[in-house]
Amino acid sequence: MSKRYTITAALPYTNGPIHIGHLAGVYVPADIYARYQRMVGNDVAFICGSDEHGVPITIKAKKEGVTPQDVVDKYNAIIKKSFEDFGISFDNYSRTSAQIHHETAQEFFKTLYDKNEFIEEVTEQLYDEEAQQFLADRFVIGTCPKCGNEESYGDQCEKCGTSHNATDLINPKSAITGNTPILKETKHWFLPLDRHEAFLKEWILKGHQKDWKPNVYGQVKSWIDDGLRPRAVTRDLDWGIPVPVEGGEGKVLYVWFDAPIGYISSTKEWAQREGKDWEPYWKDEDTKLVHFIGKDNIVFHCIIFPSMLKAEGSYILPDNVPANEFLNLEGNKLSTSKNWAVWLPEYLEEFPDKQDVLRYALTANAPETKDNDFTWKDFQARNNNELVAIFGNFINRVVVLTNKYYQGVVPTPAHLTSIDEETLAAVKAYPAVIASSIERYRFREASQELMNLARLGNKYLADEEPWKKIKEDEERTKTIMFVALQIASALAVVSEPFLPFTSDKLKKILKVETGDVQTLWDEIVNKDILIPAGHQIGEAELLFGKIEDAEIQKQLDKLEATKKANEAANKTVEPQKEEITFDDFTKLDLRVGTILEAEKMPKAKKLLVLKVDTGIDVRTIVSGIAESFTAEEVVGKKVTVLVNLAPRALRGVESQGMILMTENAEGKLVFVNPDMDQVENGLQIS
Ligand code: MF3
Ligand code: ZN
Repeated sequence: MSKRYTITAALPYTNGPIHIGHLAGVYVPADIYARYQRMVGNDVAFICGSDEHGVPITIKAKKEGVTPQDVVDKYNAIIKKSFEDFGISFDNYSRTSAQIHHETAQEFFKTLYDKNEFIEEVTEQLYDEEAQQFLADRFVIGTCPKCGNEESYGDQCEKCGTSHNATDLINPKSAITGNTPILKETKHWFLPLDRHEAFLKEWILKGHQKDWKPNVYGQVKSWIDDGLRPRAVTRDLDWGIPVPVEGGEGKVLYVWFDAPIGYISSTKEWAQREGKDWEPYWKDEDTKLVHFIGKDNIVFHCIIFPSMLKAEGSYILPDNVPANEFLNLEGNKLSTSKNWAVWLPEYLEEFPDKQDVLRYALTANAPETKDNDFTWKDFQARNNNELVAIFGNFINRVVVLTNKYYQGVVPTPAHLTSIDEETLAAVKAYPAVIASSIERYRFREASQELMNLARLGNKYLADEEPWKKIKEDEERTKTIMFVALQIASALAVVSEPFLPFTSDKLKKILKVETGDVQTLWDEIVNKDILIPAGHQIGEAELLFGKIEDAEIQKQLDKLEATKKANEAANKTVEPQKEEITFDDFTKLDLRVGTILEAEKMPKAKKLLVLKVDTGIDVRTIVSGIAESFTAEEVVGKKVTVLVNLAPRALRGVESQGMILMTENAEGKLVFVNPDMDQVENGLQIS
């Protein structure tokens, strides 16, 4: 029986294009899920749109000397096009600047306000006197009270994921002027999350321990265990949705209050256009609501938004929030500001028509249970060894041979051997296997099962060798090709959620129905024959092309150039220290020395214990250089030693001096020992 699904994908911030991390973490899995649900006949609303409010957008606008509206118009167009280019099959892609969204968000706020679901409170908030502005969210940077990250934002720490209030930051600084903010009174509305604690415990901790992903459940549990506090849902900013109640003049809704309501307004926009009723998609208990997001969005989708929905009272709650971990790129964290990313528009310029290759590589290596690394080598291998060598190769052989032997007409099979029967039975079992993986949000596994179906086809051909049989047994060859053609058509159908462009191309080659995907999926399971004898197929056409080493090297070179550029840009010089007198300087007794022996300090990552000939004596110096050098490497090195430093014990070993070091461009320590190889130990440096 058909079921109703509301499937949402996180609304992307509209201050830059999107990259492979977004695609891998959110949009590709969401699209596979939505396409699959449509294919099995469910009623799907797949919803997204641009998240156009929030501080980063105003910061970007200021930097570029344009209006925030200019920024969101530009990136909304770019992002929307990327989604279309990559076949992300949203039923609606809206924007939070749309009028319908402003109305929906304001109405939502008003309802909670009227129901007394907010606390109205005048509190002291951070204020930048020079900029004459309150500092919230990304306008303020400081030390995270939970993990000590010195670059946490006002509302969330990117390092540990904790969401906090700006006033919780230690040592806050304005991101606008760099000034230390003062505290100034202002009125805001707070959502008392603590009031919803009991409900959240019951609903998530009791209700979803089994079916939610462990990473999502674990994060939510730790937040609830830490105790929930009221969260301000309004801001003193001028970019956003005006607060629609008395006293709200000059204030806007917090971006994380309005953005998730964007799912609702986007559904409304879609329903209006399609002549449907939006309400069942959000209010009917039989609807399954699923939010696809990245792990930094968990608290908002599992705690704050559900508390809002619950407080409003007429909405359903998400059935699941299958958040992914993060994707890294060649060993480093993806970063917009460091330009460490593969941007979708750029990818398409370099690899036109290879959307499915990226979709596949990202799915096969999706960061489902832990952070994962995208490497161009793996991308190449997924393409060359799987898509080309297995999937493409099988299809090509089937289509070429059918055209060669039978002018493209599916032959009539003779007797089916037990191998044929088993093969056809195995094919029939695939939809259920793949469905089960998808239903459990295991998209990597599902993509590998799809490849296994192609493997099955390849193996069947390799074992049965129709290209040899054709010379000795024409009847047997017909049966083999008939069976192989059934596998090829199954692949055309089952690949649709994963490789939509390939699936379309293959359906055209095989001239199978492209309209009604749902029936096709059912047919694999229920019918013995997918593509009947006598059916005319089309000409062979390559589904995938090999990716050469040179193409991969080009991408690696590009990243290397980015790394270099970042290093150059990051070379900030420490400001000069306070002035000292000549006498101060002569107090330092610096000598030339040689390292005679070195060994690692047990159980200390950074420390080496050195025996150093200082010319005065041979003494022990404990040095924090073990992360940059092995013990063997440093023996025999000429070094500069501060010999009259008061001895101190490090891990129980007395260190009698200090060796001078500095850092090279890669952050590796290097010795301060210019041209000293010819110099005697013990000579003074002055
Ligand atoms: N813009 C947010 C991000 O990119 C996601 C918003 S999701 C929504 O992290 F629920 F608020 F819409
Ligand atoms: Zn933190």
